[in-house]
Amino acid sequence: MKIVFATGAAPAKDAAVIRFVTRDQRAKLVPPVSEEEFSGKANTLLYLRCDSTVCVGLGERAKINAHTLRSAAGVAAMFLKKIGRTSAVVRLEDWPKFAGAVVEGLILADYRFERFKTKQTAELDNVRVHVLGEDLATAKKAGERGQTLGEAANLARDVANQPGNLLYPESLADRAEKLGRDFKLKVTIFDEKKLRAGKFGGLIAVGQGSERGPRMIVIEHRGGSKNQVPIALVGKAITFDTGGISIKPAANMEDMIFDKCGGMAVLGAMAAIAELKVKCNVVGIIASAENMPSGGAYRPGDIITTYDGKHVEIINTDAEGRVVLADAIAYARIDQKAAAIIDLATLTGACGVALGDNAAGFWNNDEAFGKRVLAAAERAGERLWPMPLFTEFEEQIRSDVALIKNSGGRLGGACTGAAFLKTFAEDTPWAHLDIAYMSHREKDRADLARGATGFGVRTLVELVENW
Ligand code: BES
Ligand code: MN
Ligand code: ZN
Repeated sequence: MKIVFATGAAPAKDAAVIRFVTRDQRAKLVPPVSEEEFSGKANTLLYLRCDSTVCVGLGERAKINAHTLRSAAGVAAMFLKKIGRTSAVVRLEDWPKFAGAVVEGLILADYRFERFKTKQTAELDNVRVHVLGEDLATAKKAGERGQTLGEAANLARDVANQPGNLLYPESLADRAEKLGRDFKLKVTIFDEKKLRAGKFGGLIAVGQGSERGPRMIVIEHRGGSKNQVPIALVGKAITFDTGGISIKPAANMEDMIFDKCGGMAVLGAMAAIAELKVKCNVVGIIASAENMPSGGAYRPGDIITTYDGKHVEIINTDAEGRVVLADAIAYARIDQKAAAIIDLATLTGACGVALGDNAAGFWNNDEAFGKRVLAAAERAGERLWPMPLFTEFEEQIRSDVALIKNSGGRLGGACTGAAFLKTFAEDTPWAHLDIAYMSHREKDRADLARGATGFGVRTLVELVENW
């Protein structure tokens, strides 16, 4: 998408116009429109065909923030694409301080996963954003950052949307190496041989049931001083989760292509972090495996040893995310000497039961770090909801035969998953986002197409930018 910021000069003839309208502005529209036709509430839409203008409601003026405008811009873009318009002028004179959010919204709404469709939706390829002269420079700067963030989220979505037959740990590693070349990031791949030699027992166990072996992908951004310890962004990337020997029921199993979305959030965030030349050291660690049942698969009852030498009793092979993350978190702590670790994972269905699909579960072992993550998510417009880490959850996953077991049963399922991961962070400040039902959508939303959402990319970038 080509985006230019301007102060109003004549737009291209074929461009549609996007206007944002508050509740109070709606009452003064000429010609007048009824409340029924267009209320001006957030994300309501009115199309004035005669002058190719799409008005999107912002709701009450006092409640308007960046998220209101990101979403409203998305609603407008989704509509224009639907009617086949590919160029637009955005009248943003009233809201220049939300230029970044508007650009994000447009870019996020423009993305479709249509690689395998016969007909592709035309892209919204030409956008002019109008602001007043005095706001031009700052709005343009914010817009450029918004473009980087939007494109990074779309990159994450596009890899996440690839099916399991085409995207598997090895091909994901290839994709990460390409990202390294494109964005000048150092990428190191731990293939099966290296994982085995390095005693990454969690990744090896989960990956051993698949014909396609596991990988750990390490992506480094060095924007800080040489001896500054990095912040670690860790992501679960199960390229397909059948459940393994503890196999899942058939219904909706196809959605388990999205079990790599935590890792994809890390991938997208690293791209944006490099492009924005963030001035600190960041390491992205993606733990990737395919969870399959086979003669070689790991089994319930197995006792495995993670990278940091902890013994884990496997109760349920479908609780595989925590097993691969155990290795990745331990590696961040021991080898990378991370100052703090944040992990993102489609970890538990239980998290969706608890919170629905409008918030990710949030756990942390360090108050100060937790606050920074929550503040970053708030600025990014990604909703997190704090969840508990009672000591009882740790007792629930105590094993009779090893240090810990990988499932504590149904009760508090999202919390016992978090308690399991906490064990591997030890004393390093750590935060965990369970994005199981935030990572993908079954149907189009008013401002975002179906499939992977890119959730987490913006929070990670916000966190690292303010590190
Ligand atoms: N990838 C799933 C979690 C999931 C389920 C994400 C539905 C999105 C939608 C994860 O690996 C899993 O299977 N978790 C189990 C854990 C249980 C066995 C302790 C679950 O949620 O049932
Ligand atoms: Mn699973
Ligand atoms: Zn999984």
